Amino acid sequence: MEEMRSMFSHPAVLFLWIQSSSGWMHPKCQIYDSSEDLEHFPTWICSHIPHHAERYTAACQDVTAIEEDLLGLPPNINTLCISMTHGENRSMSLGFFSQFQDLEYLYIDGCFTQILPSGNSHLLNLQHMYLIDKWGTGSGCCDCHIGPHTFIDLVKLCDLTIQGYRLTAMSPDVFHGIPLLQSLIIIEPCVDDLSEILCRIMTIKSLIELKIVAPEIQSINQSNCSILITNESMKPVFNNLAFSDFSFGEITHIEEDALAWLQNLTMLTGVFSQEVLLDLPLSGIKQIQDFSCSGINVIDIESICNVVFLLSIKKIFVNNFNTSSLSMSSVELCTGLEYMYLSGLGSVHPSPHLKWNFISSLKNLNQLDIDFLRDKNPEICSFQKQPITWLTKLTLLINIQILFAKQFICLVKLQYLDLTQNLISNIEDFAFLGLTNLESLDITSNNITQINANTFYGLHSLTWLDLRNNPLIHNIEAMSFTHLMSLRQVFLGQVHNPLTEPVIKLNLTLIFGGILSQLTHLYISSAMRPMQLTIGILGQTVG
Ligand SMILES: *[C@@H]1O[C@H](CO)[C@@H](O)[C@H](O)[C@H]1NC(C)=O
Ligand SMILES: *[C@@H]1O[C@H](CO)[C@@H](O)[C@H](O)[C@H]1NC(C)=O
Ligand SMILES: *[C@@H]1O[C@H](CO)[C@@H](O)[C@H](O)[C@H]1NC(C)=O
Ligand SMILES: *[C@@H]1O[C@H](CO)[C@@H](O)[C@H](O)[C@H]1NC(C)=O
Ligand SMILES: *[C@@H]1O[C@H](CO)[C@@H](O)[C@H](O)[C@H]1NC(C)=O
Ligand SMILES: *[C@@H]1O[C@H](CO)[C@@H](O)[C@H](O)[C@H]1NC(C)=O
Ligand SMILES: *[C@@H]1O[C@H](CO)[C@@H](O)[C@H](O)[C@H]1NC(C)=O
Ligand SMILES: *[C@@H]1O[C@H](CO)[C@@H](O)[C@H](O)[C@H]1NC(C)=O
Repeated sequence: MEEMRSMFSHPAVLFLWIQSSSGWMHPKCQIYDSSEDLEHFPTWICSHIPHHAERYTAACQDVTAIEEDLLGLPPNINTLCISMTHGENRSMSLGFFSQFQDLEYLYIDGCFTQILPSGNSHLLNLQHMYLIDKWGTGSGCCDCHIGPHTFIDLVKLCDLTIQGYRLTAMSPDVFHGIPLLQSLIIIEPCVDDLSEILCRIMTIKSLIELKIVAPEIQSINQSNCSILITNESMKPVFNNLAFSDFSFGEITHIEEDALAWLQNLTMLTGVFSQEVLLDLPLSGIKQIQDFSCSGINVIDIESICNVVFLLSIKKIFVNNFNTSSLSMSSVELCTGLEYMYLSGLGSVHPSPHLKWNFISSLKNLNQLDIDFLRDKNPEICSFQKQPITWLTKLTLLINIQILFAKQFICLVKLQYLDLTQNLISNIEDFAFLGLTNLESLDITSNNITQINANTFYGLHSLTWLDLRNNPLIHNIEAMSFTHLMSLRQVFLGQVHNPLTEPVIKLNLTLIFGGILSQLTHLYISSAMRPMQLTIGILGQTVG
């Protein structure tokens, strides 16, 4: 009943409703109001588009010819998503869409031989446009001719995404004259020369956000666009650029001052050798906020920290670094870092014990994430001379097997600890002692079989505890959770019992004591086996 009412509230939908009840529906498009229950619609085509309360959407698939296949769509749609049949050889005219006066979002997945401008028929309300060739043609890239000033009539366009279209098939003036463009995303433009991108976009003065993902670019060279070959060339070309995110492939060469036009980068992603990495500060870039750096071969931490220092990097993601080079002194120049992710993924060398006292040099680090390394018995606090008062979040995926007593005792300000997917099978008593500020503890997907009265001792602030996917929790000692005064949510996951006993018996009062009444979530599963949960003196059997 509710659903019917919402459908009848929109005159155009009412029209379609009547049509569909007499057996007629649009052959290629689903039309819906986003206030409806969308469960029965194939919304995947439009799924990346933010849903707006009153958005009136048409999602069309298997489209071969836009003009014919979209015939009969209501003129007042706001969002149009089109998925083209691939392998077709057709051109598209933006003029076609001017019949939809309220169109704000246009998303097209497909490849055309050319895209023609809308001419005089303006698309007055179009704000967001996506041209995506997800599948690519034979060459893996869409060769679509787009002439000069093609988008000049899109007077409200503020956000444009182009993916999988070969940029060199477009005129050098293709983006000229779009008056309000603020956000431009270019993904896989199939060029290896940054100039090809830069020379096409640098006249877009209104740009605030620029994202480029160009895995084929290997050299960062001086651009030879005419606008840059002046004495102004050392100045940035964009006046309002607040967000810039560049992702390249394996960088083999960086020319001096090649990025001087940019100065600040929000995010840079690339694969570097140690030598080329050290050229990055000479590229003319003054500052990078977030830097994701993978090594062709292992990179020494000193080299990375040198770049971190020179470019005032705040967040770093490092893959394939030399784990032996990690030490208190080698990270000294990394002291400005707020976030550090270290991963051994791709490394062929077995990692030695990490020298965990490196943390004491990183006095601004809030969050540390170490993945895909092996240190089964990490001595995080053993060699720290003073408490670590800056770290609040720690994630370790390093094949830990045992948590020993006082393992984390120096991490006095830690609020969040993630130990998911290690091999922890044994937690010694008092392992978490000292973590008085810890609010969230995630030990899912380990090999824990037993919880003792002092396993979680000292976690006064813990509100959230997740133990799911530990295959064999069958032994929870009395009073194991009674001292967790702040606990609100507990996920014990699947509990087991010795096979000799047919019914799993848990006396919740015995293990939680007085804190049971303050829990908002308690998740326990017995995997179809009978389980008897006791609360206080009342027993209850659940299936
Ligand atoms: C598309 O057109 C081009 C040039 O006219 C031709 O070479 C190509 O084979 C056509 N492709 C298809 C799938 O029809
Ligand atoms: C960049 O410069 C290097 C060295 O001068 C040259 O070998 C390379 O071809 C250039 N790359 C591009 C894309 O122009
Ligand atoms: C820039 O250099 C490339 C390759 O070196 C060349 O193909 C292109 O024509 C040059 N562009 C201009 C505007 O000089
Ligand atoms: C750049 O400036 C120098 C000296 O300031 C001048 O000699 C030169 O002609 C200028 N070049 C251009 C392209 O304007
Ligand atoms: C780059 O960032 C620095 C520090 O945040 C700022 O002072 C400078 O004005 C920025 N430069 C540009 C071109 O945005
Ligand atoms: C890794 O770092 C250590 C210590 O700085 C150094 O002795 C070793 O040569 C480095 N290994 C590689 C492969 O660079
Ligand atoms: C889990 O622990 C059991 C014994 O406690 C051991 O036999 C098994 O190998 C462990 N599994 C893993 C993946 O370490
Ligand atoms: C469960 O434990 C509580 C607290 O120790 C105890 O009072 C109660 O008798 C136990 N209930 C059962 C059925 O064993």
